[in-house]
Amino acid sequence: MKLACIVGARPNFIKIAPIMKELARKPDAFQPLLVHTGQHYDGKMSDVFFRDLGIPTPDFNLGVGSGSPAQQTGAILERFDDLCVKENFDRVLVVGDVTSTLACAITAAKRWIPVDHVEAGLRSFDRTMPEEINRVATDSLADHCFVTEPAGVQNLLREGHAPEKIKFVGNVMIDSLRTHVAKALALRTWNQFSAAQGAYALVTLHRPSNVDDPAKLRALVAGLERLSARLPMIFPVHPRTRKNLDVVGGRLTLCEPLGYLEFLGLMAGAKLVITDSGGIQEETTALGIPCLTMRLNTERPVTVDVGTNTLVGEDLTKLEEQVAAILGGHYKPGRIPELWDGQTARRIVEFLAAL
Ligand code: UD1
Ligand code: UDP
Repeated sequence: MKLACIVGARPNFIKIAPIMKELARKPDAFQPLLVHTGQHYDGKMSDVFFRDLGIPTPDFNLGVGSGSPAQQTGAILERFDDLCVKENFDRVLVVGDVTSTLACAITAAKRWIPVDHVEAGLRSFDRTMPEEINRVATDSLADHCFVTEPAGVQNLLREGHAPEKIKFVGNVMIDSLRTHVAKALALRTWNQFSAAQGAYALVTLHRPSNVDDPAKLRALVAGLERLSARLPMIFPVHPRTRKNLDVVGGRLTLCEPLGYLEFLGLMAGAKLVITDSGGIQEETTALGIPCLTMRLNTERPVTVDVGTNTLVGEDLTKLEEQVAAILGGHYKPGRIPELWDGQTARRIVEFLAAL
């Protein structure tokens, strides 16, 4: 099977790594070809993940770069379509919910190439998020939907997807986490920030709803600065956020985006995490680290119902209350969700091999 595997943005790299590894173990069954759309291109948003996770160099880079979602989608459609014609792929595998995911799914479907979607079925029910449109549309084009949590199965069934196309397999992001967490902790990256293990918070923010309006971002960051009097905070800043961020004060330490191992080690050694990331809600649940999510909704309800995640919305008072609960030792411990066992990529690849 000549299988195009698509990546474009930071979270995609972490998801594709274990899949590429499993595909390489079955050379008689698969000819995997890695396609990077170029949506993320800075060394710290792309190359570092290939090194940290041992992902092979992409076979093709479409070099689309930044732009509006429409510009990026248009460029990917044209360039990936040319590649599909030239390479005659048997199937296309897409992961996650970014612009590159949907653009490649549309291109493949229009060329009658079957599409497999990894991390399907997640729904925030908030169409103001660009990712929600990508999720719904990609799932509708996919031949197989590989799902991370039970709510994903229910969402797809409710939308009328055939039960045969839905496969509950677990979470490939957690495969990567389990493979690398010991090595990541051993780096003791908190030392670089003059922090002590278990005595700092790790922060990330990059959702348009939190960071695109400079006044709103300023108010959120002012709240974090206040909180940093109680607990030092390390904040690796996404390029989207950097554009609107002023100089900060308190014990809130800004830095460039970090590589996977450094970031994973910092997460595993943190007292708590404050974020609006999708993947980090899941990783903190897998690590048993409290996660306070600065969003009004989540497409990953298992992290709240079973794991260590709490939605605090945009409410700084609620954030402060939850931080106090964690520091006071009164926070839920959480459990590991079903099938987040480090074997998800193996299940996906075994399924594809049997087609
Ligand atoms: C994208 C995804 C989002 C995901 C995030 C992961 C979409 C619609 N959004 O958001 O779901 O959570 O990636 O990080 O696909 N930039 C750089 N260097 C880079 C990449 C981006 O400077 O290597 C800057 C550019 O100014 C760009 C901006 O970041 O315009 C936004 O990048 P883009 O890929 O459009 O969206 P993200 O906000 O990164
Ligand atoms: N991550 C990282 N370095 C950072 C911030 C995040 O390696 O500075 C990792 C994080 O551990 C997770 C992934 O990037 O594996 C999440 O990506 P992001 O938050 O950009 O996207 P989302 O999951 O929200 O789509």
